[in-house]
Amino acid sequence: MIDGLKKEIEGVRRSFLNEIAQIQSPEKLAALKERFLSRKKGIVSQQLLKLRDCAAAEKPVAGQLINQLKMFIETELARIEEKIGARRGTQEQWSDCSLPASDLPIGRFHLIAEIQRQIEDIFLNLGYEIASGPEVELEEYNFTALNIPEYHPARDEQDTFFIEGFANMVLRTQTSPMQIRYMLDHQPPLKIISPGKVCRKDDPDATHTPVFHQVEGLLVDQGIHFSHLKGTLEVFCRSFFGPDVNLRFRPGYFPFTEPSAEVDISCFMCSPRQGIPPAGTSAADAASRVQSDCKVCKGSGWLEILGSGMVHPQVLLNCHIDPEIYSGFAFGMGIERVAMIKLGVPDLRMLYENDLRLLGQFG
Ligand code: DAH
Repeated sequence: MIDGLKKEIEGVRRSFLNEIAQIQSPEKLAALKERFLSRKKGIVSQQLLKLRDCAAAEKPVAGQLINQLKMFIETELARIEEKIGARRGTQEQWSDCSLPASDLPIGRFHLIAEIQRQIEDIFLNLGYEIASGPEVELEEYNFTALNIPEYHPARDEQDTFFIEGFANMVLRTQTSPMQIRYMLDHQPPLKIISPGKVCRKDDPDATHTPVFHQVEGLLVDQGIHFSHLKGTLEVFCRSFFGPDVNLRFRPGYFPFTEPSAEVDISCFMCSPRQGIPPAGTSAADAASRVQSDCKVCKGSGWLEILGSGMVHPQVLLNCHIDPEIYSGFAFGMGIERVAMIKLGVPDLRMLYENDLRLLGQFG
């Protein structure tokens, strides 16, 4: 009897192994489990029923054989169940790469960096190179070589951070020392802009911060005159602020340029065509179109944006360039200043608060 049972159990074990090897889904596995292990009609229970026909002496051995079969089946079922479950788990984690990507909040350039890049792009298109230099600068380049000797009152206008322990070093107060650095290293023709950080000992208010940004421009070649400067700045301003913008050059003073000019643009808010009288009208007519309550230009119709001029012959000489042969123009503008004008930001400090509600408005 026991031999017959052994054979039968072996048969059940084999057919179970055959069947479980084909199973791919949890549903089929559950059905197999039901067929082999269900209490009432399961194949293992059928075997247990046969114990009744066994001789008393054979019962313990027969019982043990059937129990071993049952444990074997249970273990195998659990192993395969886990395997199928794990596979299904990875399937659930698969992502469909043909679907549109979810909307991740990716960063963007800060407004100041963005405006700097717009300025750079315009000048790159005009054939300028970008030159950058140190923010900790020699006093010599920041002032003296730019025709601002010691005791010159222009030094007081740019309240300077000196570097403790280095008598001749400053945090640069302007990007103009890059004119000196570049001219000492290069012979004309040269054509650069130099954007970067500058520092002045100013208390923060709506138009001042102790650290801000400027872009310097410098072009030196033979036969360069003031109209080249005017044309260049006109192209720049119309590309940057809009095609209708007009420029006004006012006499100014900078020790490193002669003559020097402060440049205003017509207020794009109230009078973009300011200074360009329509045919058949006078300049006075054009001026009368200015809105006196304009918040952007405070009613003047003009917005000051930069300083400029023809490179002073002494500055060329300081850089070993012969002013009898070469001439050039230079300009310098505040990046925050033009950013505020272009974006309509009323307070400079807002550009540094990093409030995403402000930064996010300008893509
Ligand atoms: N460096 C001047 C400043 O910070 C701005 C400036 C004026 C730069 C005239 C120039 C220039 O190159 O020609 O106020």
